[in-house]
Amino acid sequence: MTHSDPVNFLQGKRILLGVTGSIAAYKAVSLLRALKARGAFVSVVMTAHATEFVTPLTFEVLSGERVVTDLFQMHEEMKHLSASENADAMVIAPATANFVAKAALGLADDLLSTMLLAAQCPIIVAPAMDGGMWEHPTVVEHVNRLRARGVVVLDPEEGPLASGRVAQGRLVCEEKILEAVQSALRLRSDWQGEHVLVSAGPTQEAIDPVRFISNRSSGKMGYAVAEAARDRGARVVLVTGPTALARPCGVEVVSVTSAQEMAEAMCRHLEWATVVIMAAAVADFCPKDPASQKLKKSGRSSLVLELEPAPDILTILSARKTKQILVGFAAETEHLLEHAHRKLTDKGLDAIVANDVTQHGGGFGSDQNAAVILTRDGRRREVPLMPKRRLADEILTEIKSLRAGGRTSTAMAREEDNGRAR
Ligand code: CTP
Repeated sequence: MTHSDPVNFLQGKRILLGVTGSIAAYKAVSLLRALKARGAFVSVVMTAHATEFVTPLTFEVLSGERVVTDLFQMHEEMKHLSASENADAMVIAPATANFVAKAALGLADDLLSTMLLAAQCPIIVAPAMDGGMWEHPTVVEHVNRLRARGVVVLDPEEGPLASGRVAQGRLVCEEKILEAVQSALRLRSDWQGEHVLVSAGPTQEAIDPVRFISNRSSGKMGYAVAEAARDRGARVVLVTGPTALARPCGVEVVSVTSAQEMAEAMCRHLEWATVVIMAAAVADFCPKDPASQKLKKSGRSSLVLELEPAPDILTILSARKTKQILVGFAAETEHLLEHAHRKLTDKGLDAIVANDVTQHGGGFGSDQNAAVILTRDGRRREVPLMPKRRLADEILTEIKSLRAGGRTSTAMAREEDNGRAR
């Protein structure tokens, strides 16, 4: 792909265009035409308020499809729900502050918000709002929440608003919306053909039938990697230790408890995989002889547990691997790069994602993380604090460039910058 001859990722794609009740709703008419002109099939869903600004008929004529607005048109609704499940991308433009709030909270009280919950595709939201609402702490919180979930929210532009005020709130220009859709579609397909095996979460090592040794891992980073790989077209198997997270759809989930079980599950799927990403926080030691009955405290003044090494899964996979790219994580509290480098070499990895778990705002349990990605060919990429879902995309992009021999790293980053309107 060259910049003079960009690939049109919209060609033949199914786009759901959601229009909400903003004065900028008329701009969605032009957006619809632009999407269609690039070869996309576009279905339009309007909120009831949107129909006060532009008639459904306008969109019907231009899209060639019936525009549905009412949640209670059951037949149409079901059709549209499956349409949102099958869409390649969903674009909400313009999105009001009310719609952004509903989306952030998962409310589903009309057809468009219901479809948003059913969507399995990349979602692009282009807000438009008057009166300085964009800076209101509640709106900021909702936008951050959506972004943490991987939704692309395009900052509105500054300029004169319908009220006459000059503030940030104008719907971003059409070109930027189109770029964001193209970028989401490109990201969606660049891992097609890859089989990704991801591990996530902690392991639990039994002391007795009711007690175990574990760690603080929430599993969020590994789940984010699994979801990002799925969204970019890969087939994904997620081997997960016990977490409180919802099972991601479109991913095969294998639940395990101990390091031993995780090792067995990872080895079983190794042959199938083209890329293996060990994001799990696996125990290094486990009780040597777990008690078969609950240990009693009576009669004891102390208790000594004997631990033995747990299997080092990456070392095992490294010894067995054939063509797979092997990626590890290094969760450190000090000497980040030094320790990560050693793990990269000792465990025979292609790349390692190093993160300082003591950093403010990132680490265990947080929705955000910062990391340094080191690769076997000596590259080092520092990724600042960002939602784990976005960090997952950065990691995948780095692995992809490793697969391409590192040659495209800069070019890919440039293409991504050009195509991304975050
Ligand atoms: N790992 C593994 N098997 C283990 C322990 C860790 O495969 N028994 C993997 C982790 O999933 C991670 C990488 O090895 O991808 C580094 O894990 P980390 O806990 O940072 O390092 P350790 O190898 O356990 O070394 P240490 O605890 O001394 O830092």
